[in-house]
Amino acid sequence: MCLSILAVLCFILTSVSSNRVIELNEKFLDIYKRDGANPWLVMFYAPWCHHCKQLEPTYALVAQSIHNEDIGVLVSRVDCTKYTSVATHFSVRGFPTILYIHKNRIVEFLGDRTREDIIDFGKRLTGPPSRPIKNCKDVDNLRKKHQVIVVHFGPNPVWSNFSEVAESLHSSTWFYHSPSSCEKYSDNSIYILKSSSLGQEMDLKYENKSDNSLKEWVYSNKFPHFVKISHANLNQLLRSGKLLVIAIVEEVKSIGRLATQQHVDFKNMVENIAHSFDDQDKFVFCWTSFVDLINSIAMHTISPIPNLIIINSTTLEYFRVDGEPNSQNILNLLKGISDGDINLRPSGGDGYHHRLIRWAYDGYSSLTNMYKGNPILTLLVFGLPMIFLSIILYSSCCSDVFEAREEDDEDEEDSTHNKQD
Ligand SMILES: *[C@@H]1O[C@H](CO)[C@@H](O)[C@H](O)[C@H]1NC(C)=O
Ligand SMILES: *[C@@H]1O[C@H](CO)[C@@H](O)[C@H](O)[C@H]1NC(C)=O
Ligand SMILES: *[C@@H]1O[C@H](CO)[C@@H](O)[C@H](O)[C@H]1NC(C)=O
Repeated sequence: MCLSILAVLCFILTSVSSNRVIELNEKFLDIYKRDGANPWLVMFYAPWCHHCKQLEPTYALVAQSIHNEDIGVLVSRVDCTKYTSVATHFSVRGFPTILYIHKNRIVEFLGDRTREDIIDFGKRLTGPPSRPIKNCKDVDNLRKKHQVIVVHFGPNPVWSNFSEVAESLHSSTWFYHSPSSCEKYSDNSIYILKSSSLGQEMDLKYENKSDNSLKEWVYSNKFPHFVKISHANLNQLLRSGKLLVIAIVEEVKSIGRLATQQHVDFKNMVENIAHSFDDQDKFVFCWTSFVDLINSIAMHTISPIPNLIIINSTTLEYFRVDGEPNSQNILNLLKGISDGDINLRPSGGDGYHHRLIRWAYDGYSSLTNMYKGNPILTLLVFGLPMIFLSIILYSSCCSDVFEAREEDDEDEEDSTHNKQD
């Protein structure tokens, strides 16, 4: 078995770099379906692609961890500029794309491109969509291991809708089922169990009512407790139909840490509120350092940072904290919204004129950002055309005046002619 895998590897790989990422070529197309013993994680890249280069060290760590943990997934990559047939075969459109490939099964990785998320993805897909829990004690361990798990408790057999949902969300969410009932949880029920980085736990129980499909429920509640907004989950959050309570903080991207202790404290404060404020049906608590994104939704520059905004994900209307964003004021706002206080009127939205304003604001803010980055270039790029434009406008106005004068002259001439006649 080992030997055959080795033979396969020797056959298809062109070179193994110093890390454990296998470099593939077009022979992969002949091999991946035939030799289906091990699943593949394949990164499709192009040498010129900036995001691919950024992902490289992370991906090398993924390969190392998966090797160390003996998960049995072959971590590899393929240069799509050299082996275009491979990219075409898997209909790869953007770089980098990460696919899980096992025989005929192909699943795209759509999460945040961090080491943990990619490893999680590989591990999850190598097992069945829902894994059995043998002992109720294991539930606590699983909660420690994963931020979010969806669990079906017995003693009734697994509900077919549960299997269906587990299958469809296999790439993003961990599903488990316990054949027996467990003390802490109701019999024959489905829970979403979350744990936070601060060690808090939250349980959500599915109410099996006809108006609430299981799939929608899992879909809009599967976000980790106090989730970080990323490019990967933003669209899902906006489709959750909930109110997004967003802590806006500043992050030093290069080291992946928050800018100052003040930002760390603010984030922790909001996370604690997230835990104590018990209205999970209506709110999702999150945090972000994409200030531009929030400014664009709010259509103005939010300051000071750290700050907090509550966005209605369906309408893009938003609420801001009245006064200083401290815990008392934040709680008051949350309670007000939760109780349906009519004095609280949201701003913004996603109507036709809001889109127009947002469009103008985005244009304006990219211009000012560009000016801050490189004032001379900005002046050249936008200033020169403006000067030309004003000259053209000016001359066209003045030419009107000239024409008008000429006409006057003609009139006069005409009249003089008439006189002469
Ligand atoms: C939900 O309700 C349906 C129909 O009443 C039932 O068949 C199913 O077993 C229930 N599922 C759970 C998990 O309670
Ligand atoms: C269960 O699945 C069936 C068929 O897919 C669907 O019609 C029904 O609405 C689902 N029920 C729930 C509560 O999700
Ligand atoms: C979002 O706004 C709409 C329209 O005002 C409202 O009907 C809906 O309930 C709001 N969503 C939430 C989660 O409050």
